[in-house]
Amino acid sequence: MDRNLALEFVRVTEAAAIEAARWIGRGDKNKADEAAVNAMRSRFNQIDFSGTVVIGEGEKDEAPMLYTGEHVGKAKIPLMDLAIDPLECTNSVAYGRYNAMTVVASGKKGSLLHAPDTYMEKIAIGPFGKKAINLDASVKVNIEKTAKALNKKVEDITVVILDRERHINLIKEVRNAGARVRLITDGDVAAGIATCFPDSGIDLLMGIGGSTEAVLAAVPIKILGGEVLCRFKPKKDADITKIKAAGVKNLNKIFTAEDLAKGKQLTFTATGVIEGPLLNGVVFNKDKVITHSLVIRGISGTIRYITTHHHNYK
Ligand code: FBP
Repeated sequence: MDRNLALEFVRVTEAAAIEAARWIGRGDKNKADEAAVNAMRSRFNQIDFSGTVVIGEGEKDEAPMLYTGEHVGKAKIPLMDLAIDPLECTNSVAYGRYNAMTVVASGKKGSLLHAPDTYMEKIAIGPFGKKAINLDASVKVNIEKTAKALNKKVEDITVVILDRERHINLIKEVRNAGARVRLITDGDVAAGIATCFPDSGIDLLMGIGGSTEAVLAAVPIKILGGEVLCRFKPKKDADITKIKAAGVKNLNKIFTAEDLAKGKQLTFTATGVIEGPLLNGVVFNKDKVITHSLVIRGISGTIRYITTHHHNYK
């Protein structure tokens, strides 16, 4: 069933990307997000399927649409879990920066971790380095083992890190270990997935980012044979309550990609809004709009790049 759905979801992420892209550089991240949410929801509800949003825009009382627990699709009985980000990197769009995309990941009912919206410490790597990483090992050891696994020199390893104050020490440690650092203003979903594509030039993702983003990235990373290890990093007491309410008993548990996205019946679909390490952004031409999307399926392991020319797009 996910065979057709994965491709149906491209229409969903494309529509959200086009609407979000109209807000590039206008300084209003809420409007950009709202435009993406409206488009995504309306397209979902034109598809003959039923899914439950397990990772969405927030709890029902804080998000009117695509909230966690919402059922979408034309059919009645929800058969699948959906982890969505109608606009990953709202600020990148608002301020016309690098790296923004729209994302839909799906799995069999019960397969995706219902991660509450807080933070996680993460390390992600592509297939050849899967066994090299350990969230409890030092930065130096992780980098040295990665270099060995990828058959590269340490100085040729590139680690992508969100440009945040909380990462000042991490950045120093990576530099001291001898590796290179790419700082990104936002978007650790694309950056994490990029570790599975050697041509992206990114070998490792390290640092603390969103926990819902960890699940979104885990779906393709797992399908592509890579690994993402993460551990909750709650910021406040309320986060701890939410994590426990989600059924996580041990706050120090290290989650693997398999823990975040179980089984094989997984799909990942994303469309670029602004160019990033995975995808190009939306292009508005005189007579058409051009979008660039990526579709990855768990059962077959296929990776499809879809460039769509939308004529007469209103
Ligand atoms: P949003 O689009 O929700 O703002 O997420 C962008 C992002 O950069 C994620 O990729 C990342 O996981 C998270 O924000 C990091 O959170 P923070 O900006 O609070 O450090």
